[in-house]
Amino acid sequence: MGRVQDKVALVTGGAMGIGKACAMTLAREGARVLVTDVQDADGKAVVEEINASGGEARYSHHDVTQEQQWQSVIAEVLAAYDRLDLLVNNAGIAIAAASITEMSLEDFQRQNAVNLDGVFLGMKYCIPVMVENGGGSIINMSSVAGLKGSANLAAYSMTKGGVRLLSKSVAIECAQAGNGIRVNSVHPGIIDTAIWDKMMLNPDSGANTVDRDGIAMAMVPGAKLGSPQDIANGVLHLASDDSSYMTGMEFVIDHGLTA
Ligand SMILES: NC(=O)c1ccc[n+]([C@@H]2O[C@H](COP(=O)([O-])OP(=O)(O)OC[C@H]3O[C@@H](n4cnc5c(N)ncnc54)[C@H](O)[C@@H]3O)[C@@H](O)[C@H]2O)c1
Repeated sequence: MGRVQDKVALVTGGAMGIGKACAMTLAREGARVLVTDVQDADGKAVVEEINASGGEARYSHHDVTQEQQWQSVIAEVLAAYDRLDLLVNNAGIAIAAASITEMSLEDFQRQNAVNLDGVFLGMKYCIPVMVENGGGSIINMSSVAGLKGSANLAAYSMTKGGVRLLSKSVAIECAQAGNGIRVNSVHPGIIDTAIWDKMMLNPDSGANTVDRDGIAMAMVPGAKLGSPQDIANGVLHLASDDSSYMTGMEFVIDHGLTA
């Protein structure tokens, strides 16, 4: 208990899945958490759960693709807590396509907007605030798909590879500036969340032909699916001062998938 005691955290896409587990875990370990998402009912339910169990959390509607909403969220966190120590840039979507030639430009740009613009804007607006309190930890959610190519998820894979090198580059900038901010990327393997149910290879027919369990069986040694908590445990380590010498690192949590 108390591994991030009294730190202030912002978790994007915190209404469900990995983001929810991160928000609950950071709150359990003493952080005050601003949970943000576009799914307001689920996001508010997460906050109620945290507050009912003795933690401290708030919810804010926040589309990570919208620059102005980042400015509002930063204003809210400063008004409520007067500081920011931790940013978990978790919000993400995965748009599948049978092949790159069958992907629309609109889908390609939407994929990029959520997964990369969102991470860029998060760092752009949170770093100056973290500098004010002498440092912080930024955790950007990438994927094993950011380490290797993924058929049917080419654009998703591109964004996650982008998150990986954006994180490393900003980590170097922060280290060279001596501003006390660490930046790392997290690379989950096959995790049991709703993101898989939303991947439609053939959306016109409503058919979801991405077989998560089949992929896990084929690719993960031991055929083991991960849980959101498995990822939140890694995020907690990067958020806590236990990882104070870790920056610019890719934290792979995949049960050997990429091994
Ligand atoms: N589940 C996996 O197997 C897996 C593997 C590797 C990486 N990831 C990454 O982990 C992160 C979380 O994914 P998850 O599996 O929990 O998915 P999820 O679909 O369960 O949750 C994603 C959350 O992000 C929110 N979101 C989507 N678009 C948003 C936007 N524009 N602004 C704000 N919030 C938005 C959703 O409302 C949702 O609450 C994503 O970045 C994903 O790419 C997941």
